[in-house]
Amino acid sequence: MKEIIMKALLQNPGAAALALFAREILANPRAMGAACPSAPLLASSMAARVPLDRAGIVVELGGGTGAVTTALLAHGVPARKLVVVERSPTLARHLRQRFPQLRILQGNAAYLTQLLGDDAAGRIDSIVSSLPLRSLHPATTRAIGHQFETLLEPGGLLIQYTYDLRGTHSRLLPSFRRMSSKIVWGNLPPARVEVFERE
Ligand SMILES: C[S@@+](CC[C@H](N)C(=O)[O-])C[C@H]1O[C@@H](n2cnc3c(N)ncnc32)[C@H](O)[C@@H]1O
Repeated sequence: MKEIIMKALLQNPGAAALALFAREILANPRAMGAACPSAPLLASSMAARVPLDRAGIVVELGGGTGAVTTALLAHGVPARKLVVVERSPTLARHLRQRFPQLRILQGNAAYLTQLLGDDAAGRIDSIVSSLPLRSLHPATTRAIGHQFETLLEPGGLLIQYTYDLRGTHSRLLPSFRRMSSKIVWGNLPPARVEVFERE
């Protein structure tokens, strides 16, 4: 059954991605934190905030079925500078098949430094996160916030979307300054894209 779904996904990423996403929601609703993949407008709004004139790498967290990954590549992030992290083994396998040119790391972003290995020692310019920070276990969310602080140097960007239209709580990211915050109405449900800069 898994093999049939994977083949369908490669032929028709749109419809089949929905099926895979739905299966993951049933298996792990808190970790998915969304009813469906991001719409292209939300994904491109996230990607557009990534500066292309910096030397370091871009890390995408919570790749899912690849909506934001597609937008990051379309925005112009070079494949060699993009690393995608995904907790679910099924989704990570899907991402590896869909984007064979990318480094896809399967694991928990709470352990991002270990997952990144040598990449953690170099410069990370932007972290683009679709992680459902509000629905994850609070200890996991705290550990992820700590990873953001550890891995981003001053000036580094964290780009995050949230379905809470009031925005991300400042307590979660004490070392970051909110640079911009914009609601994308053309997503179901509408989402707020926030850009934070490491102080
Ligand atoms: C809201 S979905 C976003 C998927 C995709 N980026 C999109 O926008 O359509 C959240 C994704 O984060 C992944 N995820 C949740 N917790 C995670 C964690 N601790 N570490 C890495 N990935 C995680 C989920 O498996 C899921 O694929």
